[in-house]
Amino acid sequence: MADGPTGAVLALLGVLSVYAASGSGPVVERETGGETEWAEPWDGAVFRPPSALGAVGMTRSPRTPQPGREEAGDLPVLLWWSPGLFPHFSGDSERIECARGACVASRNRRVLRDSRTRALLFYGTDFRASDAPLPRLAHQSWALLHEESPLNNFLLSHGPGIRLFNLTSTFSRHSDYPLSLQWLPGTAYLRRPVPPLQERAEWRRRGYAPLLYLQSHCDVPADRDRYVRELMRHIPVDSYGKCLQNRELPAARLQDTATATTEDPELLAFLSRYKFHLALENAICNDYMTEKLWRPMHLGAVPVYRGSPSVRDWMPNNHSIILIDDFESPQKLAEFIDFLDKNDEEYMKYLAYKQPGGITNQFLLDSLKHREWGLNDPLLPNYLNGFECFVCDHELARLDAEKAHAASPSDSPSPETHIAQPSHMDCPMPTPGFGNVEEIPENDSSLVQVRDHCICLRFLWPCSEKGRTHSYAVVP
Ligand SMILES: *[C@@H]1O[C@H](CO)[C@@H](O)[C@H](O)[C@H]1NC(C)=O
Ligand SMILES: *[C@@H]1O[C@H](CO)[C@@H](O)[C@H](O)[C@H]1NC(C)=O
Ligand SMILES: *[C@@H]1O[C@H](CO)[C@@H](O)[C@H](O)[C@H]1NC(C)=O
Repeated sequence: MADGPTGAVLALLGVLSVYAASGSGPVVERETGGETEWAEPWDGAVFRPPSALGAVGMTRSPRTPQPGREEAGDLPVLLWWSPGLFPHFSGDSERIECARGACVASRNRRVLRDSRTRALLFYGTDFRASDAPLPRLAHQSWALLHEESPLNNFLLSHGPGIRLFNLTSTFSRHSDYPLSLQWLPGTAYLRRPVPPLQERAEWRRRGYAPLLYLQSHCDVPADRDRYVRELMRHIPVDSYGKCLQNRELPAARLQDTATATTEDPELLAFLSRYKFHLALENAICNDYMTEKLWRPMHLGAVPVYRGSPSVRDWMPNNHSIILIDDFESPQKLAEFIDFLDKNDEEYMKYLAYKQPGGITNQFLLDSLKHREWGLNDPLLPNYLNGFECFVCDHELARLDAEKAHAASPSDSPSPETHIAQPSHMDCPMPTPGFGNVEEIPENDSSLVQVRDHCICLRFLWPCSEKGRTHSYAVVP
C-alpha cells in the first residue's frame, strides 16, 4: 500500500506516529505492512484494559439515564482529540444523552486506547498530521468537525486528507452532519424590514458610495481584493476594513474589532446605509456561506457575492443577490450596479423576499426546518453538541450491528464501512480573483498566498516547479 496519494499520506502519518504513539496502558494490535489491525472483540468482554475513565472522574448530566445502558462504565466513549474543543462546562468527561442512548464524551487522552473508546472527534482547524493518534485502531471511527473554509487547513480539501475520516460535519450539504446554514439564524433574520430607500438616497447625496466593502483579512486564497481593486476603477466603493481602505468608520469604538463585533447594533445601523455590500468569501467552496452573505440580506442590502458556486440553491428566491461571476468583467458589473442604483423599482425586486410569502425556496425552508441545532437558540442544541450526539448515535447503531452480526453472521451482515468523501469539503482549486495567472505581477501579495496553497501541500502532492502558470497544478 505504498502507491497513490493515500499511501503517501499514510506513510507520512506512519513516520510521525513514532512521536504520536504515547498512549499508556496495554494495547493489543499487530502491524501488517504499515497498517494496524485491532484484534479486540467488539464489547471488550474478553480483554479490558484498566480504566482510565475511572481515574478522570465523570460529571453526570442531570438528565435521567436511558433504560438498558445504565452503567457509565459500559457506555461508548467519544474522545475529543482536539484540545480546544470540549463542549461541556467542567471536568474531563461527561455522560451525554442522545436519541439512541447515552455515551461518554471525554477529552482525557488517556482513554485513547480504551476498548470502549469508539470515536475520536477532531476539529479541522487544529488537525495536524503530526498530532494524529497513531497507529489507528480499527474499532474507532474518526469524526471531523470543520465548519471553516480550507483557509484554515488545506489538507482537508484534498481527497487523501478528508478520507482519513469516517464521519464529517462541514459546511457541505453532503457531509454527514451538514452545517451549511451555520450563519443563518432563521427566516425571521432574512425578513427584517428594509430601511426606507429615501434614507439611503440621502446618504448617497451626502457622498456615500453605492457599494460597501468591509474586509480586514486581506490576500486570502479567494484573491478577492484584486477583484475589488479593479471594480473600484469603475464604480465608487467605500472600504472601511484594512483591505483597500479608503474610509474610516464613524467611531473609534467601531473600528476596533475588540470593542465592536460584527453584530454590534451601532455598526449594523451604519452598514445598513449602503444599498449594496460586497460579499466575497475567503475561499470558494460549494455550500461555504458566511455572515458576509446573510448579514447584508438581514440589513436589507443586496449582496454582490462571490463564494459558494452553489449559492443559488440556498437563496430565499431566485432574485435576491448579484453574483459577481455572472458578469464578464468588473466593468460590466459596475454598470449593472449603477443601473440598479438609479432604478428603485428594479432595485427593490432584489428585496421582494422580505414580503409575506416571499421566501419561496423550499429547499432553504426545509433545511432550516429540519436542522436539529440552532444558533443562540435556548431551545435547541448548538451544533457542537448536536454533532457529538450524531456521532454517539452512529456508534450505538454500529455497536448494535456488530453485536447482531456476532450473534448471527448469516442473518446480520457486518456493519458497512463509512468513509468521508471529497464532496464533504468541496473546494475547487483557487484561481485568480481577476484576470489570468500570467497577468499577476511578480510582486502582487495575493500571488504569494496563491503559491502558499501549493507550498503548504508540497510535502503531500507534487507542485510543478516550472513557474507561475503551474502554481495551481496541485493534484487533488
Ligand atoms: C424565478 O421564479 C419565478 C417564480 O417562481 C419564475 O417565474 C421565474 O421565471 C424565475 N426566474 C428565473 C430567472 O429563474
Ligand atoms: C474509517 O475510515 C477508514 C479510512 O479512513 C477505514 O479504513 C475504516 O474502515 C473506516 N471505519 C469504519 C468503521 O467505517
Ligand atoms: C510592483 O512592481 C511595480 C513595477 O514593477 C511597481 O510599480 C509597484 O509599485 C510594485 N507594487 C508593490 C506592491 O510593491
